[in-house]
Amino acid sequence: MSKRVLTTESGAPVADNQNSATAGVGGPLLIQDQQLLEKLARFNRERIPERVVHARGSAAYGYFEVTDDVTQWTSAKFLNTVGKKTETFLRFSTVADSLGGADAVRDPRGFALKFYTEDGNYDLVGNNTPVFFIKDPIKFPDFIHSQKRDPFTGKQEPDNVWDFWAHAPEATHQITWLMGDRGIPASYRHMNGYGSHTYQWTNAAGEAFFVKYHFKTNQGIRCLSSEQAAELAGKDPNSHQTDLLQAIERGVNPSWTLYVQVMPAAEAADYRFNPFDLTKVWPHADYPLQRVGRLVLDRNPENVFAEVEQSAFSPNNFVPGITASPDKMLQGRLFAYADAQRYRLGVNHTLLPVNAPKATTAQNYGRDGFMAQRNGSRFDKNYEPNSYQGPAETGDALGAPLAVSGWTGTHAAPLHTKDDDFFQAGELFRLMSEDEKKRLVANIAGGLSQVSREDVIEKNLAHFYAADADYGKRVEEAVRALRED
Ligand code: HEM
Repeated sequence: MSKRVLTTESGAPVADNQNSATAGVGGPLLIQDQQLLEKLARFNRERIPERVVHARGSAAYGYFEVTDDVTQWTSAKFLNTVGKKTETFLRFSTVADSLGGADAVRDPRGFALKFYTEDGNYDLVGNNTPVFFIKDPIKFPDFIHSQKRDPFTGKQEPDNVWDFWAHAPEATHQITWLMGDRGIPASYRHMNGYGSHTYQWTNAAGEAFFVKYHFKTNQGIRCLSSEQAAELAGKDPNSHQTDLLQAIERGVNPSWTLYVQVMPAAEAADYRFNPFDLTKVWPHADYPLQRVGRLVLDRNPENVFAEVEQSAFSPNNFVPGITASPDKMLQGRLFAYADAQRYRLGVNHTLLPVNAPKATTAQNYGRDGFMAQRNGSRFDKNYEPNSYQGPAETGDALGAPLAVSGWTGTHAAPLHTKDDDFFQAGELFRLMSEDEKKRLVANIAGGLSQVSREDVIEKNLAHFYAADADYGKRVEEAVRALRED
């Protein structure tokens, strides 16, 4: 094999990569040393902004295979035939900590899935929890500030975490989930994924359905106790990355079965819960799980920075047959992601191989900007409509329209029969075994007892009491006992 020659960025051979050029032996450096200048300058620009949330992540490629006929509910092409396979890319993540954090921590996990469909990329950007802490996107920046590092102490502060929750009774359901056994997955392979939001599917006849996605792990759920996690995080901060990478390298390809809950659109208005409230689930007794297909991860990225760090998922990347519901949180997210990525990666991030469509090509009149690569041919016009057979709109509806009524205003989400912030949190608590309840209460008390202000503790206790009197009493006793220690 011929020897590979080291070159500069412009392809010129490098004569010496060990000694900088100097004026005489032992003299000062020469500015004509292109290799030195380019190397140092390039190095200074290696880091880009990390994701403002979900900074730490691991990802893999794979495929989604349809196993069941769902054409009665959606016309999405990638779901239209049993046996059809679509290439996918899935990025898992923790939420609150920055890139330097550890994997084995109590935190929701991101489950961001890109389907490279023949109708363009479909991104389903979910979590490993079916619900979320808040139900209005206007609260998101405050929520995240309270969970991330404090501007003065530079670390996560129980005072901030619990003060936000004291003012967010709607978080009680998600807190109960997070502080319970599933709050620390043993690995990314051993947890479920959820779309969490309600989405709208439309079938070929134009009929609309609201759906919730559930990816059930075929590896079985495995979780860590707080003690096991603390030990693992110290031993191997990259434990989830190690596990995923090594499993796929060994050919032990993780998989998930996708189910959906389907609600005919006409049932939404009178359902006992607001179906567009992200802090609520739809009990399976109301809307059972319907199997859709299988997701398999079978290939590791070759380069973590190029493919994982630069990957970009956006909840508004839909394909015909799948659209947004009126969930306010989802609507806020439709804006936030691509905006974050234009800042984090630049306006042309959709041209990067991991983000570009694979089963079709993007054809539009977006032009130029930093790092532009796609300029089209000399015959392409850069305006539309044109008389030169340039790409043109289809005229086909992407999904059924949503009915709206009323006045504009800063409204709270509408209440349905069972809608309060505590009922489902109480239901989740009552479902737990005695041991599970003990661990839940110990985890909550471990955090809440560190809060310095008594009024913040009281407000949080009131939320647990409102969910279930026994729940509140147990947490209060555990907090008091720890504070007396
Ligand atoms: C990442 C905003 C709620 C799941 C992000 C990013 C932003 C963001 C700006 C970074 C995007 C990037 O730089 O590429 C928001 C806002 C929310 C919200 C404004 C509420 C209004 C949620 C919810 C979920 C979720 C409810 C799950 C159901 C994720 C995931 C990522 C992410 C999985 C990481 C995506 C990746 O792996 O690249 N979010 N988020 N977020 N968010 Fe959200």
